[in-house]
Amino acid sequence: MKTPSVPKQTSQTIRNLINISVVVVAVVGAACAAAQGKDEPIQPIVPVKITNPAKVELGKKLFFDPRLSKSGFISCNSCHNLSMGGSDNLPTSIGDRWQQGPINSPTVLNSSLNFVQFWDGRAKDLQEQAGGPIANPKEMAFSHDLALEVLNSIPQYRAEFEKVYGNKELDIQLVTDAIAEFEKTLKTPNSRFDQWLKGSKKAITAEELKGYELFKNSGCVSCHNGEAVGGNSYQKMGVFEPYKTNNPALGRAEVSKQDADRFNFKVPTLRNVELTYPYFHDGAAKTLEEAVDIMGRLQLAKKFTPEETASIVAFLKTLTGEQPKLQLPILPPSQNNTPQPKPFD
Ligand code: HEC
Ligand code: HEC
Repeated sequence: MKTPSVPKQTSQTIRNLINISVVVVAVVGAACAAAQGKDEPIQPIVPVKITNPAKVELGKKLFFDPRLSKSGFISCNSCHNLSMGGSDNLPTSIGDRWQQGPINSPTVLNSSLNFVQFWDGRAKDLQEQAGGPIANPKEMAFSHDLALEVLNSIPQYRAEFEKVYGNKELDIQLVTDAIAEFEKTLKTPNSRFDQWLKGSKKAITAEELKGYELFKNSGCVSCHNGEAVGGNSYQKMGVFEPYKTNNPALGRAEVSKQDADRFNFKVPTLRNVELTYPYFHDGAAKTLEEAVDIMGRLQLAKKFTPEETASIVAFLKTLTGEQPKLQLPILPPSQNNTPQPKPFD
């Protein structure tokens, strides 16, 4: 290409002007990006700082230990598989002796960000939650006493509890405290969307950004917001149209006994939602497209076009964060006096 003949002096001035404007654009751009991050209804996940590694390690062992179940076969990880987004990818879970579970298993990833635990919020925090499944006849079907008997019979476990908790007698509070400490480390920071929130414009594509704008402007963010993009309120499933399901769960009403709370569920997190199919408390929506379409119609009286749905789904997939890097724990062996598993009775 032929260089236009501009007098030297002028061309230098233009170049300077261009340089200045590049700097101005960069500064304004960065300021916008920072302001934009602050004003958004979704905040980036704050990575965890591990303060008590020995407790986390003990909790991890317990999370993976199937001997906390009657069958000796089911661990927390059976239904909250950390190789698959912290869920089991089944409509409803499989419990002791292949019993059909009543409700979809939510992910344990980022569960420390939930304002309460369970779909109906019946546990106030992770520690209170962790005692539930061990003694639930449809899940691990054990008793807290038997679980403690198993752990007490294994010298390596006794030594680890002593290291973390001193000479306290082993009780279920210590078991659930250690499991909760491990669960608190299961955060998934640095998703592409979080990188975008922090100002990295190229972290998401134009299509994904379009999906986010739709998500925001259609009103999805009124229920799915904050660090977890959910997990911070109860909301009715079926605001504009009733939700049809054969699942008998009533949601929050089961705890509050208030009719007004019928079909109110804790809003699930949308972090890592690409990994946690199928969707809804009954696991009835097999794909994200289906879930988004239902949410639009039932929660917002909005019928999205297939293109709009595709953009929202593309956005939702940018919420997949860095999965916890775990080394599989090696569990201490049972001893001659360890209670035997009962898988078939
Ligand atoms: C048989 C399958 C199964 C097993 C085993 C199991 N869970 Fe769950 N978990 C579920 C289901 C189903 C729910 C939802 C129950 C509800 O909301 O009523 C759930 C809920 C949770 C929640 C609440 C998440 C949220 O978003 O509300 C946490 C945390 C959790 N489980 C951790 C654990 C831990 C820790 C263990 C081991 C001690 C465990 N689970 C064992 C199936 C299981
Ligand atoms: C009025 C509050 C509200 C609004 C608005 C809302 N949601 Fe939801 N969302 C919920 C509740 C409650 C659930 C759980 C419902 C259930 O399981 O029965 C849910 C579940 C979901 C799920 C399934 C998550 C899972 O793990 O099962 C997806 C995906 C979702 N919403 C996306 C959206 C999108 C996209 C929009 C906007 C089009 C939206 N939501 C608008 C309250 C809302």
